[in-house]
Amino acid sequence: MRFLCIGDVIGRTGRNALKRFLPEVKQQYKPDFIVLNGENAAGGFGITKKVFDELLSMEIDVITSGNHIYDKKEIVQFIDSEPRLLRPANYPPEALGRGYGIYEKNGKKVAVINLMGRAFMGIPLDCPFRKFDEIYEEVKNSVDYIVVDFHAEATSEKTAFGFYVDGRADVVFGTHSHVATADEMVLPKGTAYITDIGLTGPKYSVIGMKPEEPIKKFLTGMPVKYEVAKGAVLFQALFVEKSSEKIDIKRIKLEEE
Ligand code: FE2
Repeated sequence: MRFLCIGDVIGRTGRNALKRFLPEVKQQYKPDFIVLNGENAAGGFGITKKVFDELLSMEIDVITSGNHIYDKKEIVQFIDSEPRLLRPANYPPEALGRGYGIYEKNGKKVAVINLMGRAFMGIPLDCPFRKFDEIYEEVKNSVDYIVVDFHAEATSEKTAFGFYVDGRADVVFGTHSHVATADEMVLPKGTAYITDIGLTGPKYSVIGMKPEEPIKKFLTGMPVKYEVAKGAVLFQALFVEKSSEKIDIKRIKLEEE
């Protein structure tokens, strides 16, 4: 099975990057299953129904998220009725939405699990490691593949998680930092892993935002209003091909001048 995992898509510029580069990536890699983190897809913060539908129309199979999932108020009206939209599974059980799903594609069953780290994230969540154990026990006998989006700030937490689930999950990809890491690898027991895929969106930006405001914040300590940067686009993704004979992993980076 060929998986394409796309990191945080940032606002309209991110959606433009998908329109610009996804068709050629699909043609080259022929993915069977596409997972995309969409928590920044609407104006840089959260996701709306319109943007969710726009992403699905690009043949994205599942949209994951993280700490920005509830930023757009309208999310409460549709998250419960969209099985292809996930929020971190280790949110309190009362939180709207679901943290994992099982999806059938090309005759195979794929569990996609969305989890969020706790270091430097500021949201009181259940332990993502133990939550994985719980979900793994529920799904392991009924699926062919398990894919995890681990949405977290600390590289150490993400890497520890990768090793913790090595041999149980097939693919673990990190999101949230918006900056790609060059550590894609197949872990010793066979899990394809990357600490962070990096953003899909504006190339010239501070984690997706126009640089002026973040610079002002660092210089003055005053609150600022972030705005998604425009212009040249960057597309970043992780491709994993897994069969009983082999695992291939490849980091993809395509950009405009
Ligand atoms: Fe995030």
